Amino acid sequence: MDKVLSGIRPTGFLHLGNYFGALRNFIKMQEENDCYFFIADYHSLTTHPKPADLRTNVKNVLIDYLAAGLDPEKATLYIQSDLPEVCELSLLLSMNVYVGELQRVSSFKEKVRRQPNNVNAGLLSYPILMAADILVHRADKVPVGKDQEQHLEMTRDFAQRFNNFYGVEYFKLPVAYNFGQALVKIPGLDGSTKMSKSDNENSCIYLSDAPEVIKKKVMKAVTDSGPTEPGQPKPQAIENLFQLMRAVSAEDTVKFFEEEYNKCSIRYGDMKKQLAADITAFNAPIYERILELRGNDEYLRKVIERGAEKAHASAAPTVRDVREIIGIKKL
Ligand code: TYM
Repeated sequence: MDKVLSGIRPTGFLHLGNYFGALRNFIKMQEENDCYFFIADYHSLTTHPKPADLRTNVKNVLIDYLAAGLDPEKATLYIQSDLPEVCELSLLLSMNVYVGELQRVSSFKEKVRRQPNNVNAGLLSYPILMAADILVHRADKVPVGKDQEQHLEMTRDFAQRFNNFYGVEYFKLPVAYNFGQALVKIPGLDGSTKMSKSDNENSCIYLSDAPEVIKKKVMKAVTDSGPTEPGQPKPQAIENLFQLMRAVSAEDTVKFFEEEYNKCSIRYGDMKKQLAADITAFNAPIYERILELRGNDEYLRKVIERGAEKAHASAAPTVRDVREIIGIKKL
């Protein structure tokens, strides 16, 4: 049985990008694998959330996980900070990671551009902590979206380097995973190529958005005056709408609007109405469960306590072995 691990940062509510990039795979994979899905609260500290917001965000991600279909009887659900083994492994791995390679990571360079006044050391060492998350469970597969590909390559590098340095075959080399298909990137509604909370609230559809909110956001999505010649390539914002439609709508619906586009008779207002309706229909069962779970703190606490125990049972032997391999032994 494969070991599977993945996590999501608690920066608010989960959006359709998180769902189609990651969570959808979590739900499928929990059926036949030994799965560990966590809430990456340590990682979210790089952007300095207020303490009260952090707590709420963690709870909201847990609710979204459960509402989307993660089953605590099948998968281990835990909060990253409930597993301090990860910090020790991260420290131990960091001794064989070079500052230069961390400075070249695209997500680091992007953060430097976005938050020039907060280029903290946590941002630089982010890929080491992420490698520790994965390696502490010695995971085989890591379901993630396209934007995490480079982090997974680094995890493999660090694992291989550890094995070479100590002359062991201890760590497996985990792979980024999307059910045998290419990793995905869901676009935003604002014309950006990646749905992301940090860009623009209106570019994101959250799993917890009410139907009227979904409609409002989709109707505001960026479009243009439409194609003027048959076969004209789609501008990014229009391609984005089609991509979202491919994720949530029936094949016939997508085909209909593709044909309308190619005939230059497309009406974006109609397309958006259809897209809003299809997102709402897709999301309805998740949204209902989110509302149900919101008042259920005792259940949430139980899930997370049990998850922490199971995660600890999986992680503790790794840290013990790594200490031993490195030469940290009792005198
Ligand atoms: P995060 O919190 O930014 O995103 C969580 C997951 O959602 C995917 N994702 C997307 N996929 C497709 N299209 C999008 N627009 C989109 N936006 C987000 C991400 O690829 C990711 O799979 N570093 C990670 C969290 C993390 C982690 C780990 C993941 C920490 N440790 C260990 C896996 C294993 C992150 O910031 O993801």
